[in-house]
Amino acid sequence: MPDYKKSIGFLFLEKTKLDRQELFSGEREKISPVSYVKTYSKAPRYPLPRPNFPPAELFEVLARRRSSRIYQRAPLTLEELNLLLYASQGVTGRAGRYLLRTAPSAGALYPIETYLGINAVSGLPAGLYHLEVTGWVLEELARGEFGSKLKEAALGQSMCETASVVFIWSAIPRRTMSKYGSRGMRYIFMDVAHICQNLLLAAEALGLSACPSGAFFDEEINDLLGLDGEEETVIYLATVGRPKMQ
Ligand SMILES: Cc1cc2nc3c(=O)[nH]c(=O)nc-3n(C[C@H](O)[C@H](O)[C@H](O)COP(=O)(O)O)c2cc1C
Repeated sequence: MPDYKKSIGFLFLEKTKLDRQELFSGEREKISPVSYVKTYSKAPRYPLPRPNFPPAELFEVLARRRSSRIYQRAPLTLEELNLLLYASQGVTGRAGRYLLRTAPSAGALYPIETYLGINAVSGLPAGLYHLEVTGWVLEELARGEFGSKLKEAALGQSMCETASVVFIWSAIPRRTMSKYGSRGMRYIFMDVAHICQNLLLAAEALGLSACPSGAFFDEEINDLLGLDGEEETVIYLATVGRPKMQ
């Protein structure tokens, strides 16, 4: 039985504990920064309007939310998708060069990029997309049916094929680690959890079903999206669809 204390997970936690002496001595490792904006300038672009907010009672939504993996084969509307994107990464303010968003981010460094596997959304061809946050535009990376490939990459979880849309979040670690060093790696996972919870609550508020997923073959999803797995790598997924009455 391998020792818990020798596991890489335990060592990661240990080695990224903040140490008072180290913090104030300025001894932290130096990691060079990288751009905070990612755009695929040659991709076909689908601008999204500012969405109209539906009425929703936060505490009722919190009480109702449940992970749900069984969906109707029915498309989402573009307005619904726009609201889901807004809830997860909508720009709600500005502080200097930073665009502040619906979800908090350590140091306002926003290390998470949002990609979509669109299986069925009215007005958008099925395919893989990237959200360009500053212009609030969807960039089409590849057109076609990717549901079964996403399912295979997600350990065969059929919700990735039956969902109307699969949210795929990647991390660009340097954005956060250039400021916080290795401890920044913790913050990246906290960041994405905030984003995902906002998505799950928005889906619930819209009467949709959603489920997060941490189970996937990282390199298979990275290959689908053309990510190198080092400077940028997938870290979390969530599926959204219309609920199926059971
Ligand atoms: C980090 C994380 C990873 C998860 N991964 C999966 C997954 O791969 N597949 C799945 O069906 N559910 C996944 N879930 C959903 C959990 O199974 C679910 O949240 C849990 O059973 C509690 O149910 P609830 O979300 O309905 O409250 C994940 C949840 C979290 C927070």
